[in-house]
Amino acid sequence: MNFTPRFPNFLHGGDYNPDQWLDRPDILDRDVELMQAAHVNCVSVGIFSWARLEPEEGVYDFEWLDQVIDRLWKGGIHVILATPSGARPAWMAQKYPEVLRVNDHYQRYHFGARHNHCLTSPVYRRKVREMDTKLAERYAHHPAVIMWHLSNELSGSCWCPLCQEAWRGWLKDKYGTLDKLNDAWWTSFWAHRYTDWSQVEAPGGLGETSTNGMYIDWRRFSTHQCKTFMMAERDAVQAVNPDLLCTANLMERFWDYDYFDLAEGMDVVSWDSYPEWHSGDDVARAAEFAMNHDMMRSYKDQPFFLMESTPSQVNWKPVNKLKRPGMHLLSSMQALAHGSQSVMYFQWRKGRGAAEQFHGAVVDHDGRGDTRVFRDVTSVGKALEALQPLYGLEKRKAEVCIIYDWSNWWAIDYAQTGQKDNMKYFDSVNMHYRSLWERGVNVDFRDTRDCTDLSGYKLVICPMLFMLRESFARKLRAFTENGGTLLVTYFSGVVDETGNAWLGGAPYGLIDVLGVRATELDAIHPHDRQGLVLDGKTYKITELCEIPEMHGAQTLGTYAEDFYGGMACLTKHTFGKGQAYYLAAKVEQAGLDAIYGAIADELALTTALQDALPCGVIATERGGAVFLQNYSGAVQQVTLVGSYIDMITGEKVSGTFEMPVNGVMVLAEG
Ligand code: GLA
Ligand code: ZN
Repeated sequence: MNFTPRFPNFLHGGDYNPDQWLDRPDILDRDVELMQAAHVNCVSVGIFSWARLEPEEGVYDFEWLDQVIDRLWKGGIHVILATPSGARPAWMAQKYPEVLRVNDHYQRYHFGARHNHCLTSPVYRRKVREMDTKLAERYAHHPAVIMWHLSNELSGSCWCPLCQEAWRGWLKDKYGTLDKLNDAWWTSFWAHRYTDWSQVEAPGGLGETSTNGMYIDWRRFSTHQCKTFMMAERDAVQAVNPDLLCTANLMERFWDYDYFDLAEGMDVVSWDSYPEWHSGDDVARAAEFAMNHDMMRSYKDQPFFLMESTPSQVNWKPVNKLKRPGMHLLSSMQALAHGSQSVMYFQWRKGRGAAEQFHGAVVDHDGRGDTRVFRDVTSVGKALEALQPLYGLEKRKAEVCIIYDWSNWWAIDYAQTGQKDNMKYFDSVNMHYRSLWERGVNVDFRDTRDCTDLSGYKLVICPMLFMLRESFARKLRAFTENGGTLLVTYFSGVVDETGNAWLGGAPYGLIDVLGVRATELDAIHPHDRQGLVLDGKTYKITELCEIPEMHGAQTLGTYAEDFYGGMACLTKHTFGKGQAYYLAAKVEQAGLDAIYGAIADELALTTALQDALPCGVIATERGGAVFLQNYSGAVQQVTLVGSYIDMITGEKVSGTFEMPVNGVMVLAEG
């Protein structure tokens, strides 16, 4: 897939802020030379430039940007042009306070920081539209400009009167009548029934904090407000040139908005990846970020862009470690392996002052092109050029799908049960993912919207699918009945899409599919002992255990301890032409590895390589090539049966060889 027809290449570059250096034309000239030296071919410009673009209301200054873009273009560097709506100029905040966000204690923020505008404010939306239109008229047909970068890391909610009014309007559209809203939110509890729409306020802060259904809807509404804000920006720029595609940069583990829903409002997904390498277990970290990449690829079921990453270190973590030698190339190649079309950085050059003066950059305060970081960046640029034959090639169609659903995530976090405030949805899902990732199996993520199509998958995994919509329960049934393999875990099928408990037993709609009914949910202290006994081994269980009641399933594994010791913990049931597994508890990684190892063998799941690899050496397929990645922190001896060419170095690879610490190769059959 080619999202940037003006420049059909893997992109290499990053956030470029020339507006911080307008009084230093020497530095701006030097930037282009350094970009060429670093094999950078594209930069993102204008992300926070509003105060330079419109220094006074209605007074625009594009000359500096004309020069910047022309200078880049002459140097052969392409541009992703940003709309500047992620931060607004002081004059606007001063003149139109309504553009400023209000928190859930009804305090309006003052001017400052960024990413803190009201998403509803008609004034802000108008100002953004005017600015975007001007930018598009001037640059949307410039040959250097290859894509739009809408705003920056869209996030948050606003509790201002305008947002409250929009919230009530959204609820009226959704529910029609107050009775329906009261039922959906179970407001008969604690005398919370509403008798007039004007009584309904946004949840949080000083007001309603106990109605989970309302909270879930508030998150859906916040997603909707952000999506319409973002889509209005897209409409503004595409009114001028419909062919220039729009992206918005997303974030990891981002809880505020439903990303499957938000992604519908952009042409292509991009994201900002900041793994905390060398701070514990790098294999676990790599599993986490592999999943992030695969989620980004899954939102629109198409390749994505890595829009930001650091070439060295960040400056906002408690401990800001440098990337160790090799890690920059390795982590950049990981993004590519999972479907990225780019490796981009925050930031090109360190500014002299303000919050990010010490955030890692390609060019440091010394302005040099011969630093360790600069060499690392250059090596990534060269690798991307060598890998250009993979451009336009996507990953092999996945046979496995994991269900990850935002409404479910919110519902889990608002539900007051189990490990209260610490249900670890993302981390628990990541453990299931990791077992497959380590085996080199491609995995897609899907949510429970009506558009989700499960046909074509061999295995569908539903970890903690607490909120199970009627239509999705039917989809899972049909999938299994028609020959699919389904795995459902503890804490699934408990509530409907409004957060109200299903009556008649859990997992809703799947009891006969699984041959098991889930009864009570037990929570485990860290010092408690519990285990899954499976094939003569005992695997540790932590956090959550459900007690199953058997309805025809076969017991594969049992609980080791306590009053439910000996009862089923892992079961299997034939349903129609398919089979359904039920895992009743949170089992340690080795236990999941054993379970998925057996399932993968039984279903003959396709893996990136047939060869057995050392622990921490991961093979990931893209476009028929195999990205071999060593996250183990040690030199590893690898033996391959086939013979390959490493596309990065052009060297032959076969037999037994050593992979260095943080080593990476891209193997093409040779
Ligand atoms: C985010 C932002 C950037 C920058 C980086 C720093 O990703 O989008 O503007 O602040 O973080 O890591
Ligand atoms: Zn608002």
